[in-house]
Amino acid sequence: MSTFLPSIHVRLDAQAVIDTLKRLQAIEILSARVLGGWLPGVARWEAKHQLGVHLWEDAEHSRALRTRLWELRVANADRDVGDGPARLIHGLSLALEDYEFLGGLYLVLKPALASAYARLLEQTNAILDAPTRTILRHLLPEKEAQVAWAREAVPLLAQSEEARARLERWTGHATRLLAAAGGVLGHEPVPAGLDATPPPGYGVTRLPFGRAHRDERFQLSLAGIPLPPEDDDAGQVRFQFFNYTQEMQAVETLGSLLWEAEGMEWEFYHDVARHCYDEERHSAMGEMRLRDLGYAVTDFPHTVANYAWRQLVDPLRRYCVLTYVIEADSFKYKHATYRRHLARGDLHSAEAVLWDIMDETLHVRFGQQWVPALMKQYRYTGTLEALVAECREILVANTVNPLQRRCAEVSATA
Ligand SMILES: [Fe+2]
Ligand SMILES: [Fe+2]
Repeated sequence: MSTFLPSIHVRLDAQAVIDTLKRLQAIEILSARVLGGWLPGVARWEAKHQLGVHLWEDAEHSRALRTRLWELRVANADRDVGDGPARLIHGLSLALEDYEFLGGLYLVLKPALASAYARLLEQTNAILDAPTRTILRHLLPEKEAQVAWAREAVPLLAQSEEARARLERWTGHATRLLAAAGGVLGHEPVPAGLDATPPPGYGVTRLPFGRAHRDERFQLSLAGIPLPPEDDDAGQVRFQFFNYTQEMQAVETLGSLLWEAEGMEWEFYHDVARHCYDEERHSAMGEMRLRDLGYAVTDFPHTVANYAWRQLVDPLRRYCVLTYVIEADSFKYKHATYRRHLARGDLHSAEAVLWDIMDETLHVRFGQQWVPALMKQYRYTGTLEALVAECREILVANTVNPLQRRCAEVSATA
């Protein structure tokens, strides 16, 4: 017998692999959703950015596992998954402080997920199930890197003695919650007498957040910064890229939407996770360009007022405002600034705006796909045109961004 061939001995049969992949893909998309829900309530700016990246990775991990399930003849990856994953994630969402939530998710659930992937990689047959192993070899290092980030970042968020005690109490609770769920795969025996009820004072959700949190380095203002005069070239560039940093509010709006919109198909959550991640990159892009120009993101007063009013409208209108109004109406301004940067020889600004225009084109397409689906889900009986007109009025009445208002007014009269 050739020695390079592994044994045909099967430690995990096909059905066991399928059941494992089904459960893990469900946990991954729920993890993306709960990260989104908590993102506005996480104060630390750098952590917020990281969550935007990780929720997209989780959505992509879910997609990779679902693609493999489809190859394994599973037409509906969610059938018979049961409510175990949703109950587990809901339990983890009930933390009261941001560092508690992050501790439960990243220091308890995600390490258990990484172990489950490592076990599956080791146990599934290297020849018969090689395509699953290819996926796991890609996914596992990303999951381990998420955990490594949290091992450094979460203790920094819980610096007082009281906070450290709270973090320890919550991760202890999260560990019991996971055990009560039968572990990540749901089939480990539940220890006798296990008490997984939340600690005293817990049990009521803080989600969705009505207000977006910022850390102590940020100076907050109720209004956005004013539009500089047309002929103030340096001021226009500074305004544009500071505005990009403020797209963190779009990250937060989409994150909350990811959690709040119930009953949508998996593809919706995957696309909203992507949209959310793109806005995180736009915020980072703004910060990067400001730094090149000699500014820090905290040099300007930030506003979280646009997040706040968007939380007052339902997920249908919130998503419609973002895609059909704010994003769709922004192209004229973006193209004009692109040409202006080129004319001034500011190639760095031009390049950044060009990438943004491409992302925004994708987001408008997301809106065209998912606003009609949300209209059904939220039993909206009017026409799409009436909904968009209503959302444009809501925006003009509420936004504190002078550019958004101007773009919407130009579109309304076009
Ligand atoms: Fe954006
Ligand atoms: Fe966008």
